Amino acid sequence: MSESENKSWQQEPFVVDVKRGDTKCYCMCGLTKTPPFCDGSHKDTHDVPMVVHYDKDETVYVCGCRKSANLPFCDGTHKK
Ligand code: FES
Repeated sequence: MSESENKSWQQEPFVVDVKRGDTKCYCMCGLTKTPPFCDGSHKDTHDVPMVVHYDKDETVYVCGCRKSANLPFCDGTHKK
């Protein structure tokens, strides 16, 4: 399935509440079936997931439209 065929992405950011000590693995290839998180679908691509460790509780806005210049995070491009 190509990225454009994957209907589980969306046209707005995913709002992810993280806790201090969490580690999140964000999809960078666009092929995951569990966006915005990696499900291992990148294995036949040159992409690798972005692993982020959090040292505080916070809310993270992860790009759902795949057009951000700051993937995997939302940069507001989806509003254009
Ligand atoms: S959801 Fe993609 S830039 Fe905001």
